[in-house]
Amino acid sequence: MRLYHALGPLFAVFSTLSLSAATLSVTSPDGNIELTLDDQALTYQVQFRGNQVIAPSALGFRFLQLPAIGSGYKMIEHSRNSVNQRWQQPWGERETVLDQHNELAVTLQHPDRKPAFTLRFKLFNDGLGFRYEVPPQGLAKLDIIDELTEFRISDSRQSTAWWIPGRGWNRYEMLYRTTALNEVDRAHTPFTFKLPDGVHLSIHEAALVDFAAMVLDQQRDGVLKSDLTPWSDGIRVKTNGSFTTPWRTVQIADSAVGLLNSDLILNLNEPNKLGDVSWVKPGKYAGIWWGMHLETQSWGSGPKHGATTENTKQYIDFAAKNGFAGVLVEGWNTGWDGEWFLNGAVFNFTQSYPDFDLAAVTAYGAAKGVKLVGHHETSGHISNYEAQMGAAYDLYAKHGVSQIKTGYVADGGQATRIDENGIERKEWHDGQLMVNHYLHSVQEAAKRQISINTHEPIKDTGLRRTYPNWISREGARGQEYNAWGSPPNPPEHTAMLPFTRMLSGPMDYTPGIFNLAYNGLDAENRVQSTLAKELALYVVLYSPIQMVADLPEHYDAHPKAFQFIKDVPTDWAESIALQGEVGDFVVFARQDKHSDDWYLGALTDEQPRSVTVKLDFLPAGKRFSAQLYRDGADADWRTQPYDIIIEQQSVTANDRLTLPLASSGGAAIRFTAE
Ligand code: NOJ
Ligand code: CA
Repeated sequence: MRLYHALGPLFAVFSTLSLSAATLSVTSPDGNIELTLDDQALTYQVQFRGNQVIAPSALGFRFLQLPAIGSGYKMIEHSRNSVNQRWQQPWGERETVLDQHNELAVTLQHPDRKPAFTLRFKLFNDGLGFRYEVPPQGLAKLDIIDELTEFRISDSRQSTAWWIPGRGWNRYEMLYRTTALNEVDRAHTPFTFKLPDGVHLSIHEAALVDFAAMVLDQQRDGVLKSDLTPWSDGIRVKTNGSFTTPWRTVQIADSAVGLLNSDLILNLNEPNKLGDVSWVKPGKYAGIWWGMHLETQSWGSGPKHGATTENTKQYIDFAAKNGFAGVLVEGWNTGWDGEWFLNGAVFNFTQSYPDFDLAAVTAYGAAKGVKLVGHHETSGHISNYEAQMGAAYDLYAKHGVSQIKTGYVADGGQATRIDENGIERKEWHDGQLMVNHYLHSVQEAAKRQISINTHEPIKDTGLRRTYPNWISREGARGQEYNAWGSPPNPPEHTAMLPFTRMLSGPMDYTPGIFNLAYNGLDAENRVQSTLAKELALYVVLYSPIQMVADLPEHYDAHPKAFQFIKDVPTDWAESIALQGEVGDFVVFARQDKHSDDWYLGALTDEQPRSVTVKLDFLPAGKRFSAQLYRDGADADWRTQPYDIIIEQQSVTANDRLTLPLASSGGAAIRFTAE
């Protein structure tokens, strides 16, 4: 196949399949990845370093109004393109992103039926993406009832997968499972797996716009088929007669850590559509939040009400004193009384509880250089939210609020809309309706220079490139589960997230709990990590906004460790994943965007281990002072979570550091030029 490709853009006769079948191939710029399209069966396959990693897999769609796109199509024309360019991010894991890829676009037609369509492939050195482009068919509507795209993995019994179930009641907030690939049922993406020879792959999608999320459904062993999340009426995607799909993506790397050093998803998204986004501000925020999860405070009115003017002013003082940019306040608006997660229809997004004065707290914050971070919990009732969205965002904009955390707490399949006939319909959080709703909120917010941090979101597919005000999101089990989850997040959870959920983009995990066992070391609900590991999360789990999540008084007990949270930035010039294995451990180094400082974060699962890190990411010929925060000799998340050593060393790029990590331990380092 490589020979045909080297000869140029010719139709190649793939004689081993059939004399009439045509195939076309495209390779990654380094030649390691090769994708071949066969139009006879309408299948594609992928080789990595000469070995097949995706076996011949079907492509196509079924429609309500037209026959299926599937076998029987012929390639009628194709074009190629190569790109090698760099682009800048307003914020991110790195300032400059390399986009280097080879593109193949193939138009296919059936001898006697519509639609003709184009398949567009882009091959990068770290993986590939492809999408379907179906032009107008002269129909007012074209409903997709199934997508036929497959990802076939030959060695499914010998391959290991790390996954969470799709279409579950808890959306994306589940513990990752480690199983043989053939034991996967229906899984969300990013879907990460390892072949028997150690090659790691992750299937996901990029630029999910006006479409349903792709969930992977395992049919026969090793056959992962796209299972688009349906509307409540069973249709998967409703179109006006034409559509372009999100990119179906496959990251491919020699090792687990290779998956982390990839910009594939961002490269497959469109450039920034918002113009000047200097108003989008990365930074750290504290908030009236953890107390509600510990149940010492309440969102609703009454003696435990957290969102009072007085409490907010105290949090603003705490943020100002420590250099944090914002204070989140949850429970400030009416609608929280009673079972708020079932009462989305009664939230009012412009009416404060009487003990909360929005004008007063924002003025108080402005005088101290601290912003109020807004909050809108919708309980998944999007009709109620959309009806108030304009006024709600206007109100916040008027008071200088430039970031809002939104929330969609409702079980999977229970997001609520009122249809055109006034009938209540229940939808999935990752169906087309909600995909459009989430983006609508981001676009409406952008008009007012407001950034959005979505909880219970649609999964990330890299849209932060196009809409940089989509500043973060949840979309996995976060810290909150340590307060009330049954079970709380186990030690491996944060060693699992970088290789799975985080491949899609930033996560608002809300790290930094310092009172790790609020109800005692033996209580079920506690943070199952050491103090040093909580610090490491700020470097490991990337987000341009990071919460300083614990109660201010809990930081008083560990002022020296708290210094790291005060120092660590949230916006980076460069990021490098140095070491790691999925669900076991991970080490990241990141360079501050606004100084010469570097930071390192390392963490492990329940297994204590020692990692030796070469410091060759530091610029050569310079001395750095390394401020280390690491587990002490007796540290263990169960018995001695607070045993931490804070020390200083003088190092250069030629040095190595050996970091002993305790059971569920970690290490955090700041390197400053001497
Ligand atoms: C779930 C969010 O993840 C959490 O952070 C928030 O406090 C609650 N919903 C209430 O909105
Ligand atoms: Ca949540």
